[in-house]
Amino acid sequence: MAKSQTILITGILGQDGSYLAKHALQLGHRVIGGIRGAADDERTWRLRHLGIAADVEFVPFDLLSPEMIDRAITQSRPDIIFNFAAQSSVGESFTHPVATAEAGGIGAVRIFEHARACGNGIRVFQASSSEIFGDISDTHHSEDSFFNPKTPYGATKLFAHIMAEAYRASYGTHVSTGILFNHESPLRGANFVTRKITKSLAQVKLGRLERLTLGNLDARRDWSHAKDFVQAIWKIMALDKPDNFVLASGKLTSVRDFVGMAAAALDIRLDWQGEGLNETGVDRRTGKVVVSVDPQFYRPYDPAQPAADIRKAQRLLDWNPSYSLADLVGEMVDFDLKAETQ
Ligand code: GDD
Repeated sequence: MAKSQTILITGILGQDGSYLAKHALQLGHRVIGGIRGAADDERTWRLRHLGIAADVEFVPFDLLSPEMIDRAITQSRPDIIFNFAAQSSVGESFTHPVATAEAGGIGAVRIFEHARACGNGIRVFQASSSEIFGDISDTHHSEDSFFNPKTPYGATKLFAHIMAEAYRASYGTHVSTGILFNHESPLRGANFVTRKITKSLAQVKLGRLERLTLGNLDARRDWSHAKDFVQAIWKIMALDKPDNFVLASGKLTSVRDFVGMAAAALDIRLDWQGEGLNETGVDRRTGKVVVSVDPQFYRPYDPAQPAADIRKAQRLLDWNPSYSLADLVGEMVDFDLKAETQ
């Protein structure tokens, strides 16, 4: 992508949209953010943190409104649309399944449809999710695995993923997908487990919070740095042929071990005691319980996440994650300690 292009990013106020905007601006592209509601200081905190809020143009955009999508795309005339907008919390999809499906499912198809109808070669990136795999017996998840999601979020993302393939096959639309495993950063929302852990433990360290309460400590996830995924996503969109790519680190870590790593980065030594709902993390120095389990954070359905097979991205994109999990945890903890003391 040598010449300057116009990039439209939905979900630009979120973690991935913000990092992608920064990447595109650094390469000299024009960045337009499609947003629902006002671009006020509170909502643009990630863009301001990255120092790019003044460099982004905004257009009103709502995945539930075909008219607004039409107007935004017609006016901004993008070369590439990155679709990160969605209700992105798996946990919240259990309480808001309809809203999750409307925005993440039908909303995505509205974008594909506009790209097809205008027929001028717009490229679209669709953020698919590892939640589309769901309950499968493969030991490694690749682009060719069977998909069997059981959460409303996973089912929604699979619908959009398959529609992306349908638009490629039926109309030749240039829609690529990234099957994104978990990706985190200091810009992650605190409703996701990693940021909840680093933020809460920073508060515990500073004596502002008694303890961190979590759900399933045995859940294992493949966590990467969001910045690494942005590099790969950019490479995906530079390919002449649209395609699907699994993006992940290839390594699984439990929530319990992530807590241990974050605590260690804060110089808190944790001893785990008890089991199940009675499990606690005790600060070895003070003898106080600083981590406990609360059933309200358990999900009705929380499938295990087997390892990711990232060989296709390594081979065709010449991509590998550059951040280790320890680097990522360290960066998040540093950010949260600093934010809490400012
Ligand atoms: N959020 C949350 N809060 N999760 C908890 C908690 C808690 O207090 N305690 C344990 N967990 C467990 C969840 O049950 C889940 O197994 C795991 O931590 C990760 O939860 P999240 O951080 O909420 O992420 P996710 O894996 O459900 O979904 C994320 O990754 C997907 C890709 O794999 C989101 O970013 C999705 O949008 C994304 O598609």
